[in-house]
Amino acid sequence: MQAFLTIAVRAARKAGDFIIRESDKIRSVQSKSQHDYVTNVDKAAEQIIIDTISHSYADHAFLGEESGRQGDSEYQWVIDPIDGTTNFIRKVPHWAISIACKYQGKTEVGVVYDPVREELFTAVRGRGAQFNGKRIRVSNTNGLEHALLATGFPFRNPEILDKYLNIFGKLFPECSDMRRAGSAALDLAYVAAGRLDGFWEFGLSEWDTAAGALLVKEAGGMVSDIAGNPNYQDSDSIIAANPKAFKAMLKAINQK
Ligand code: IPD
Ligand code: CA
Ligand code: CA
Ligand code: CA
Repeated sequence: MQAFLTIAVRAARKAGDFIIRESDKIRSVQSKSQHDYVTNVDKAAEQIIIDTISHSYADHAFLGEESGRQGDSEYQWVIDPIDGTTNFIRKVPHWAISIACKYQGKTEVGVVYDPVREELFTAVRGRGAQFNGKRIRVSNTNGLEHALLATGFPFRNPEILDKYLNIFGKLFPECSDMRRAGSAALDLAYVAAGRLDGFWEFGLSEWDTAAGALLVKEAGGMVSDIAGNPNYQDSDSIIAANPKAFKAMLKAINQK
């Protein structure tokens, strides 16, 4: 799996260099669906990632946010070329490239790369998580009183706003503060690195979370849906946190 990590990092760095170079010359911004934008840079960056990986692994399959499913293989690469496209378009320097490699449905390798800050978060299943080559662990914050949490607003799903606000109303008064920075992949990477104690959001897709969820788990954290079911991919929600904050988040959410 180390070889897969090397290729994933190579692809993320290539795409990162490209996106930075192109960031002042975005040629087109399209709406894919309500509030979901894509630029020519997202599409080209995804192609760079796919080409880089295919060069080494010609028979692997892909699931990319912008190009969908390609190929059929036990190995599948799950790619978000720019996680935080709205930030990218508005020149808010907070977005990342997210690449995961799955084998027989299990995430084996995860890379989240922030080329603006040159911050690289990596994980290999069973081998821990790293930040710029150094081992990372989730925070040790106990409970919620001193916990810094992050979330994403349901800006594409107004129909779940009430459900979202209900949970916000349970967590927010209990924690120290809540962030909404605009990149789920970075939110998860920051939980892995102990910068945040926990994260929760509704309506994310596999490309948003596959790499970041592995980072959190390999850094000693927990990931589930908001009901506590570890198969968060089968639901419309995700919670990721250090084990103590995780327990406290679930408790707060489930109280009447
Ligand atoms: C989005 C970001 C954002 C989250 C959205 C995602 P995109 O990804 O991760 O933080 O709230 O739900 O879709 O569309 O910029 O790749
Ligand atoms: Ca998008
Ligand atoms: Ca995304
Ligand atoms: Ca994206």
